[in-house]
This record gives sequence, structure tokens and C-alpha cells, in this order.
Amino acid sequence: MSRPVVLDVDTGVDDACALLFAATHPDLDLRAVTCVGGNAGLDDVVRNTLTVLDAAGRADVPVARGAARPLLEEPVDARHVHGQDGMGDLDWPASTRRTDPRHAVELLRDVFAAAVDDPVTLVTLAPMTNIALLLRTFPDVAGGIREIVFMGGAAAVGNATASAEFNVLHDPEAAAITLDAAAALGIPLTMYGLDVFYEPRVSRAQAATLIAGGHARAELAGRLIEFQCDRFDNDSATIGDAGAVCAVVDRGALLTELLPVRVELGGSWSRGRTVVDRRSWAGDMSHDPHGLAPVSVDVALAVDGPRYASLWFETVGSR
Ligand code: BDR
Ligand code: CA
Repeated sequence: MSRPVVLDVDTGVDDACALLFAATHPDLDLRAVTCVGGNAGLDDVVRNTLTVLDAAGRADVPVARGAARPLLEEPVDARHVHGQDGMGDLDWPASTRRTDPRHAVELLRDVFAAAVDDPVTLVTLAPMTNIALLLRTFPDVAGGIREIVFMGGAAAVGNATASAEFNVLHDPEAAAITLDAAAALGIPLTMYGLDVFYEPRVSRAQAATLIAGGHARAELAGRLIEFQCDRFDNDSATIGDAGAVCAVVDRGALLTELLPVRVELGGSWSRGRTVVDRRSWAGDMSHDPHGLAPVSVDVALAVDGPRYASLWFETVGSR
């Protein structure tokens, strides 16, 4: 039995790696993809997403446009990581397909509303603007959401700033609302953050094998890895967001712990940080003037990187 999933993306080199995997793995039933501004502007994200699904032979998957900007602040893209077009500047032929006429929030609402008997796993790989809007606007759809696995945040490190991860920093209010709403609605949360994000790595040699694979999906996958190897001057590259989708297929390779998490909304240098509470002594916790964070999240603290890397490599390279 395949597991129904929806991806919310800001495609994005590693979102593209995730889409190729989700569109192909036989244990996943990709029901829809929703787009949000993040790594690049929304128009680029939408074009890239359609392009990737075409390469994967999945023009049947509905794709919807969502929020073009964060709830509060102006968007700040990450083209220095993902290239000018947001997806590695590969000159890949663009899709001619149109997006679904519904707004992303409406498409998500409809998919989840129809899934109460077999709830859908929502994987978010981007700023959580669409998800915050969904859960506040249509909380009744919670019964159709099995869990939310989000790439975002970290217990220990930052990337966009010294303390914050890009997806959460880009729209901290949306991340805080999503955590709050999910907890209130009883939707389990898993955080696939930077503590594990860089571990599943594919080599330049494996990328070359994919490029020579003789079909569009494998070639695109290989070129995305190759782009990252070049950009970061390395012999291997992380599959990034794709690891969060691997976690849906193979949870056993991920070590998680249920921990209280807050999103920092203020701070001079810490806005957008996920404050993960790893204390164990009840004495300190009960005397904490902030009180305990009301939301607990299954936080990924370690991953068998080679296992996810090979799961991804075998899947996107398969015939
Ligand atoms: C996250 O931000 C984006 O650059 C990547 O696509 C990933 O979702 C990593 O911080
Ligand atoms: Ca992303």
C-alpha cells in the first residue's frame, strides 16, 4: 500500500531532488504539490516545479501557486545557493503545462478534506506560509493530515544566519503559527532540520552515473547534484530536502526525540531560530520563567546518511 503525500516546495535545487524522489518511489502516492516563494520568487518556483514533474513523467500531479511572500516581512531569496533561476541554471526545457486553477491553500484544503479515511502526510520543504494560512483558515481539514514532516530549523546550527535555518527565518511567524496550530489540532510534527540535512550525500561519480542513465529523471537528478558539487567545490553534495521525503519512506534510519520547540520571533541575532529544549532536569524546567514550550516536536537528531543517499540514488535512477 502506498502512502499518500503532498509536498509544499520552493523549488530549489534540493526541492527538485525531493520532487524527483516523491514522484517515483513506489511506496509514495504523490497527490499534489503546492508552491511558495522562498529560494526564488514564486514564478520561478512554479516553473521549476512543473519542469521537474515533467522530467519525472508526472504531469498528472496537480501543482498550485501559493503565497508569493512571507506573512510579515519582504521576501529574501537564496539564489546565491540555488542559481539565478532557482534551480541550478541548467537550461532544462520548461514545461508547457498550466498550474491548477486553485490557490495552494484551496488545493491543500480539497486534498485533505477528501482524505479523512486515509490521511495524507504533508511534507513541507519551504517557508511555511501556505501551511500557516491553511491551518488557520480551514482547521477542519486536520483529520485528513496524518502528520507534518517539515524541513526547517535545527537544534544546533544555522545557515541563513548564525542561529536560524532559511525556511524558518524566511517566515518565522508562519513557522510559529504552523507549530501552534498543528499542536492544537492534534497533528504530529517531525522536524527534519539542519542537524541531519547535510548527512545524506551523493558523490560526483554517482551524479555522472545518473547523467548517463539514459532517461530524463535520472539525468536531471545527476545534473542537480553536479551543480551543487560545483557551487560548493566539493566531491559530493547533500540531497537536502529529499532527505525529509526519505524519512516518510524509511523512518528507521532517523533518530528522533520528542522535544519542546519554540520559534524565536524577536531577538537581535536569533530571529527565526528554533529553540529546541533538550534539558532533562525537571528542577530547571519547572523554574523556567518562560514556562515550558507548549508544542512538542519529533526532532531529528541523527540520520543514517548513506542509507538515505542510496535510497534516493536507486529511486531516481530506476527505470
Ligand atoms: C532549506 O532552505 C532551502 O535553501 C533549501 O531548499 C532547504 O529547504 C535549507 O535551509
Ligand atoms: Ca526548499
